[in-house]
Amino acid sequence: FHVDMNADEADKGTYPFYMLKEVDEQPNVMRKLAQTYLSEHGVPQIDDKLIKAMEAADRLYIVGAGTSYHAGLVGKRLFEKLAHIPTEVHVSSEFAYEQPMLSEKPFFIFLTQSGETADSREVLVNVNDAGYPSLTITNVQNSTLSREATYTLLLHAGPEIAVASTKAYTAQIALEAILAKALGEVTGQIVAQDFNIRQQLGLVATGMQAIVDEKDTLEKIANDYLMQSNRAFYIGRGIDHAVSLEAALKLKEISYVQAEGFASGELKHGTIALIEKDTPVIGFITQAKTAGLTRSNLQETMARGAKTLTIVREGLAIDGDDLILPDVDEMLMPLLSVVPAQLLAYYTSLNKGLDVDKPRNLAKSVTVE
Ligand code: AGP
Repeated sequence: FHVDMNADEADKGTYPFYMLKEVDEQPNVMRKLAQTYLSEHGVPQIDDKLIKAMEAADRLYIVGAGTSYHAGLVGKRLFEKLAHIPTEVHVSSEFAYEQPMLSEKPFFIFLTQSGETADSREVLVNVNDAGYPSLTITNVQNSTLSREATYTLLLHAGPEIAVASTKAYTAQIALEAILAKALGEVTGQIVAQDFNIRQQLGLVATGMQAIVDEKDTLEKIANDYLMQSNRAFYIGRGIDHAVSLEAALKLKEISYVQAEGFASGELKHGTIALIEKDTPVIGFITQAKTAGLTRSNLQETMARGAKTLTIVREGLAIDGDDLILPDVDEMLMPLLSVVPAQLLAYYTSLNKGLDVDKPRNLAKSVTVE
């Protein structure tokens, strides 16, 4: 993966790091995806053959690595809710060597920003050998996984240069939502027909803009709250747990904080023993069904000395909450709740004087197994 150094400077413009530019680009990426994959009336414009191939499946298998895997965890909820199709999500390096028992008519979705991840390609080779249909969702046209899958869809997110993936993650989720709606409509799911994806992606873009416009609040929190500790927990339930894994990865990979994303209900089964005075614990509260439960899990950590922070959907907010997110459909809340986590990681790394775009030991695309 080679970035032309001249283009490199030009593209960054006034930004100190690509990562901040790419976080800021997310509202426009949402609009670009809506423009590309939805008609003006919000009807998904997806290749019929692809939809038919997915309709013929009895189970979806989403495969990806790192952040792409995390986007798959959100996609699972979208496909099961909107298209009512059982969906599994697997880490590519695990799936390649411990393939689960497959359903009669599996359909594979590969999520990969670069389209070159060796672990994911390894799985695609096996899937092709077995003759199963596959779709690669990627940000790089003509990339290996894009060329070798049965179908391919582009994220149109523009080049993602920072090693830490941000706009590709949110673009993958948005495109999974469009795909899930298209599939759900074809199979007659009312929830899909009622889901106004065009309006929702517009609300998401506006909500993302509101969050990135509040950068200095997040910089302050990173300074006052995260900088003092080299450990941190992000916690949540269900789809909020999926986001907590991505939030922790961001913090780990660019600020080297030992962060962990954790199912909040699971803490009391052992891991809460790690909580000590001033351990940062950040809770995602975006789903009505689990809001109260995660709040009490946060209380449990606070009782053991944790310094807690809440990232809450507006409709669920109470006095004392720290970061309030605009309301969008709960199944799209990851598109908003991840943005503060991206920025907290960015500012923590910046404050530590680290190379935000090129963290130690990491490559943008891991083309070795
Ligand atoms: C995410 O911030 C990391 N850069 C890394 O986990 C990345 O998501 C992973 O290597 C997968 O890359 P891909 O999406 O290009 O396949």
